[in-house]
Amino acid sequence: MPSAYLNGDWLPLEDAKVSVLDRGFLFGDGVYEVIPVYNGKLFCLECHVVRLLNSLSEVMMDSPMSAKQWSSLLTTAVDKSGESLAALYVQVTRGADVQRSFVYPETPQPTIFIMVNPMSPSQRDEIKPLDLVSLEDFRWERGHIKTTSLIAAGILKNEAIAKGANEAALFKNGYLTEATSANLFAVIDGTLVTPPKSTSLLHGITRDVVLELAEQNGIACEQREITPAELRTADEMFITSSTMEAWPVGSLDGSKIGNGAPGIVWQKIDALFQNHKVT
Ligand code: PDD
Repeated sequence: MPSAYLNGDWLPLEDAKVSVLDRGFLFGDGVYEVIPVYNGKLFCLECHVVRLLNSLSEVMMDSPMSAKQWSSLLTTAVDKSGESLAALYVQVTRGADVQRSFVYPETPQPTIFIMVNPMSPSQRDEIKPLDLVSLEDFRWERGHIKTTSLIAAGILKNEAIAKGANEAALFKNGYLTEATSANLFAVIDGTLVTPPKSTSLLHGITRDVVLELAEQNGIACEQREITPAELRTADEMFITSSTMEAWPVGSLDGSKIGNGAPGIVWQKIDALFQNHKVT
């Protein structure tokens, strides 16, 4: 069964090869999306395609296809994979050039790569809250672009792990931005809060879904700046992403959040999300 798509071909993942002159390889010159698949269907496909087109435009790359064509190609990839619970990964780079040059090629031939990775249903068997550590967000000023240049996120994630945590709560100019590959929510004084959309963080699709579900179900929520001191007073925290959905946080910098167990607001949000993702 083919499990990858590369520039028009469907092939086994291990046979998918790109040139060493690909700008994705040499410069991290590419953008990507990760889209969850539930019951064989791409979740929030349209929103992911809109963000992909936006990322391409932000890095001055013409999209090799229309939104409709993207949706159709990504849907075909899932159908061909036969997976029903999975995460689709799609990456578009500026392609290979004749030499390594900082100047963009005049007529780039983008590399389009798609793979569909099965997700394990057992991920949710044990909801173990994450341990977070506060770190300075030294990534770049265009965090809203979903770029494959992820070296800073990798350093931060591994710095968090080296400090005995699983993830980082990132702070820039004294305010919370997000985690290394997820958005962050906190429950402060009974309100669900998350940092507002800006160029400092990725505009997560799961974040949008959670905010919508909260609003529809009478859970008070606010998008506003959060300081480190305020975050320390949070009764609950959780992260959101396409692969983790909403996942509780048990501690920050070695201190328990609430009693360290998944909180009541997270439980409500999670129940709403689990119901929403299959309807
Ligand atoms: N990461 N913030 C960052 C920096 C991210 O990389 C991600 C997702 C998110 C959450 O966005 P969404 O809800 O749209 O998945 C926030 C993906 C899963 C990844 O890089 O694998």
